[in-house]
Amino acid sequence: MSDTLVTPLQWATPAAWVDAVATDRIALLSDHAHCELKAAASAQALIAKNTKRPELIKELLKIAHEELEHFGRVVSIIEARGGCLAPVSGNRYAGELLRRGVSGRSPHLLDRLLVAALIEARSLERFRLLADHLEDEELSALYADLLTSEASHRAFFLDAAKKNFSEEEVSSELERFAAVEAEVIRELPFDHLVHSGPPPEG
Ligand SMILES: [Fe+2]
Ligand SMILES: [Fe+2]
Repeated sequence: MSDTLVTPLQWATPAAWVDAVATDRIALLSDHAHCELKAAASAQALIAKNTKRPELIKELLKIAHEELEHFGRVVSIIEARGGCLAPVSGNRYAGELLRRGVSGRSPHLLDRLLVAALIEARSLERFRLLADHLEDEELSALYADLLTSEASHRAFFLDAAKKNFSEEEVSSELERFAAVEAEVIRELPFDHLVHSGPPPEG
């Protein structure tokens, strides 16, 4: 499947990540469910911080609904497989990305929009790998089905950045944050998580 949208990612996850993560599918699904829940919570937090931007609120509300719907779908699959949603993991990916990206100052709207766009872009990349390489009909269908929605979220956060900030600022900050994202994801250890580090070699 080809990606017709331009990805801002500066490091490509190897396909071997799928084989490694597929060894504990309930753990992967559980982390995935928490990612959806956190995406809904982040959209709501952005609404609360931007009460004077009605257009942004409308779109964020739509995203929050979609992420909660994804959460419900993933939890249903976990339960149908005899598992249950694990407690939230301490994955450092999103927190590290924002912390290193802003390096000491308070995050502002552009930081949050670009971080959200990069998280969506990385999720989308991993969902596409899972859709294409996972030998599990139900899960590869789930990931294939989520691609359109997550691609539209990535596009929304990038467009929102462009609508609210100058083109020069968005492109230089996006490049800077994308470099931080590539550094963070490559440094993380491998685990059965959507945003884990590179697969073990060999
Ligand atoms: Fe989602
Ligand atoms: Fe999303």
